[in-house]
Amino acid sequence: MKLLEIKNLRKSFDDLEVLKDISLDVSEGQAVSILGPSGSGKSTLLRCMSMLETVDGGSMAYCGKTAVTDGKYVSKAELKEIKSYFSLVFQSFNLFPHYTVMKNICDAPIHVMKRDKKEVTENALALLEKMGLSDKADYYPYQLSGGQQQRVAIARALNMKPKMLFFDEPTSALDPELTAEILKVLKELAEEKMTMVIVTHEIAFARSISDHVIFMDGGVIVEQGKPADVIDNPSNERTQAFLKKLEQ
Ligand SMILES: Nc1ncnc2c1ncn2[C@@H]1O[C@H](COP(=O)(O)OP(=O)(O)O)[C@@H](O)[C@H]1O
Ligand SMILES: [Mg+2]
Repeated sequence: MKLLEIKNLRKSFDDLEVLKDISLDVSEGQAVSILGPSGSGKSTLLRCMSMLETVDGGSMAYCGKTAVTDGKYVSKAELKEIKSYFSLVFQSFNLFPHYTVMKNICDAPIHVMKRDKKEVTENALALLEKMGLSDKADYYPYQLSGGQQQRVAIARALNMKPKMLFFDEPTSALDPELTAEILKVLKELAEEKMTMVIVTHEIAFARSISDHVIFMDGGVIVEQGKPADVIDNPSNERTQAFLKKLEQ
């Protein structure tokens, strides 16, 4: 089953066309990585997918439900339902600084989604354990390392019980040691067949966990396919140049 279907997506900021005819599908259980140089439109694509930005054209459907057709959005009530299908994890963690770890993880499920407090809290404790943060429930974000904060952000996203997770360069604010912590968590999620779309510059990681790799440049998908094809044997010269630059 396709959890995400994007067709002919277009997005401009004033005169700048940032996404030009983007089409992609994500099936249930797939990990899809998006690679590409800075400014190629990766974050804008994730923000459009997460509905933090509106699109100018094209269509998007989530779990078989249409959200946008030819740039036109469905009703607010339908969008609310659709938005519960996914969560986005940011590069900069975006935790609430004045909330404890536990409150960061439980606040939206209890107060926005109106789920049962006991169920949400129990699930949060299980997620903290999974993230190796059982002893940090009462800490505030400033008392944690960047890697720990990002693991809290991932636990928060998972506690929304989404059908898919989107990540925008989840490790680029972290040094190599902390990056490894986060990549390990993402690898485990991929092994559990969590459906994920990950924008990353970690090429070796993308190669090892992805079912599908997308290379973007200049607001278009220039190449996509299996990691072995796109990363080890790219056919497009822009992909080749990008990967070569990263090797240096
Ligand atoms: N809110 C915005 N207003 C105007 N231009 C933007 C905005 N967000 C992104 N852009 C521009 O869109 C292009 C793509 O940006 P972005 O999606 O952040 O690329 P990437 O994540 O691949 O580095 C860039 O030229 C950037 O300056
Ligand atoms: Mg970006």
